[in-house]
Amino acid sequence: MAEPAKIAVFISGTGTNMAALLYASRLEGAPFEIVLVASNVADAGGLELARIEGIATFAHPHKGHSREDHDAAMEQAAKDAGAQFIVLAGYMRILSEGFVRRWEGRILNIHPSLLPKYKGLDTHARAIAAGDSHCGASVHLVTPELDSGEVLAQAKVAIASEDTPEGLAARVKLAEHQLYPRAVAEYVSRGNDPEYLLARVRELALALPETHERESHGSPGFRVGTEKSGKFFAHFNDQHHGSQHIAVLVKTGSMDELLGLVETQPDVYFKPAYYGASGWIGVILNRPGIDWDHVAQWLERSWCAVAPARLTKLRDAADRF
Ligand code: GRF
Repeated sequence: MAEPAKIAVFISGTGTNMAALLYASRLEGAPFEIVLVASNVADAGGLELARIEGIATFAHPHKGHSREDHDAAMEQAAKDAGAQFIVLAGYMRILSEGFVRRWEGRILNIHPSLLPKYKGLDTHARAIAAGDSHCGASVHLVTPELDSGEVLAQAKVAIASEDTPEGLAARVKLAEHQLYPRAVAEYVSRGNDPEYLLARVRELALALPETHERESHGSPGFRVGTEKSGKFFAHFNDQHHGSQHIAVLVKTGSMDELLGLVETQPDVYFKPAYYGASGWIGVILNRPGIDWDHVAQWLERSWCAVAPARLTKLRDAADRF
């Protein structure tokens, strides 16, 4: 099994979501561990709980610091702790754009509404006032625009006619405590999840002109051309022939190129069994920090290598404009 992902949790208040994450991380097989709990509030309740549980803590009050300087101190603490992801759990500070960009795709938040409804504050009161039947919580990726990143998961909570914002907020938190650990676990694991990786490859491969999917030797493959005379330009491999890699196989230009890449970048490439002999290289997908643009470039190159001339010509012409 892969090493648990290291996460830093940022809090400002009671930290009950942090506690839910912490106890979930201690269950057998959990795919993440908390390496730091950090706060902009020196006496945030959650810091004490983290200390009792032996988790490193960091408190840095924001008063008197610019947003950038405060963010930089929090970021440094997260980095020093070896965090690979930052998980916001009731962190009541808007983060500077630079910070968010540096952690793009690696910073998550939980928000007490069914986004895109009710961004910002007073979500429970607004849901009640609107006469909604449900409110809930959303886990989303953090982007520079407040509460607007991709929603990863949601939990619904029914609203009763006699609900007060406080009573409803307490029930929403119960749901949050179920939702957040599961959403974080799924998110940090997806780089090792063959289904997720195949879906990404499929999306990129089938975005190329005149392509279709066809199984080959029990694995998904992608072809260009007609159903009848098309040719494979990519094969998806999930730990084939004893390999640890989840990979996409694509065509290289020559055996020299293949061997050179495998030798100089063994964490990115490998020579697959059988296919390697005819110039196919394995691009490893289950590795930290994978660059999907790079995968897309390889797919396109491989597509060009086998596509019929009528298609590559069209593409070359389009490129000239
Ligand atoms: C939660 O309701 C969360 O959705 C919001 O802030 C609250 C944090 O609560 N972002 P806690 O500190 O985890 O108890």
